[in-house]
Amino acid sequence: MSTTVSLVDELEQLERNAQAELGTLNDEAALEEWRVRVLGRKGTLATLLGGLGRLAADERPAAGQAANRVKTVLESAFGERQAQLRAAGRTQQLEAERIDVTLPARGYRRGQEHPITRIRREVEDVFKRLSFSVVEGPEVEWDHYNFTLLNIPPDHPARDIQDTFYVAGSDAEGPGGSRGVVLRTHTSPVQIRTMLAQRPPIRVIVPGKVYRNEATDASHEAMFTQVEGLCVDEHTTMGDLRGSLTFMIRSLFGQEREVRFRCGYFPFVEPGAEFDMSCHVCGGNGCRTCKQTGWIEIGGCGMVHPKVLEAVEIDPARYTGWAFGFGFERMALLKYGVDDIRLFYTNDLRFLKQFR
Ligand code: DAH
Repeated sequence: MSTTVSLVDELEQLERNAQAELGTLNDEAALEEWRVRVLGRKGTLATLLGGLGRLAADERPAAGQAANRVKTVLESAFGERQAQLRAAGRTQQLEAERIDVTLPARGYRRGQEHPITRIRREVEDVFKRLSFSVVEGPEVEWDHYNFTLLNIPPDHPARDIQDTFYVAGSDAEGPGGSRGVVLRTHTSPVQIRTMLAQRPPIRVIVPGKVYRNEATDASHEAMFTQVEGLCVDEHTTMGDLRGSLTFMIRSLFGQEREVRFRCGYFPFVEPGAEFDMSCHVCGGNGCRTCKQTGWIEIGGCGMVHPKVLEAVEIDPARYTGWAFGFGFERMALLKYGVDDIRLFYTNDLRFLKQFR
């Protein structure tokens, strides 16, 4: 057997083996190692080619041709495999970075009303149906309106019921030559402002923030929200007051609720009362919420004191008025079964989100 034949055989064997191996390589590093080992300067093919010189002159052309062909075949096989691997790599990357453009967009978070705002709206809605208007007044108020015109004269012991924050250094002259500015302790001064600005018939409710110099605990905050109601007209009575409050309580807590009045003292009403509702938890039988009494205290009310009407120049011989006031926080605590008033103002979303 001639040398040529065996060299050509060897070249063909190399072609088969190297090609087969190429098909098993799966990464660029293995591919490069193959290239150096097979096609490199000191690689298998080069070594075989080195044998050409030892062939007889007439055997060289055939062997040379075979060598060139194998070289071309292996080089293009290498290029193909490399392209294949790179394409696969890109596909893999695309796969990894795949995004589903058909997914619906992420929803944006909708806000919601604060529980106190919600109660406030509900109360406003009830009284709007009774043809009351909603009015507001300043939180920084003349002492004169917060106390004096409401029949709580300076140095009168009734002032002790509501300890307020006095605004320091504000000795500007107020209405009627009065002095003193306070953070209002109740929404009642807006009664005064309304009656000074408007003649009867008057029907207003006044929601808003109020302030008390008070130690904070589960049922007291230095700032809270109240609503004041005021009706002044000819012939309006305590029966209308009671009917209106009953309508409100039933709208908020259910048609089975009853309202009762207990004698109570507020300087700006005569007679004055505290109003309670029958317990919405036990229906009036007695439970923890109503402290076994069957009743829950809601707020204060009464017939507007003649002295208050006189102070705003409404004739108490011709007109009567009634008024009430209560806190939204207390109502929200009861309605939503919350046990600590401070939760309303710590802005903890885990708490607030429960009022959807
Ligand atoms: N202003 C009173 C308070 O904050 C509540 C109140 C009681 C308002 C009786 C009234 C009323 O209008 O008639 O404690």
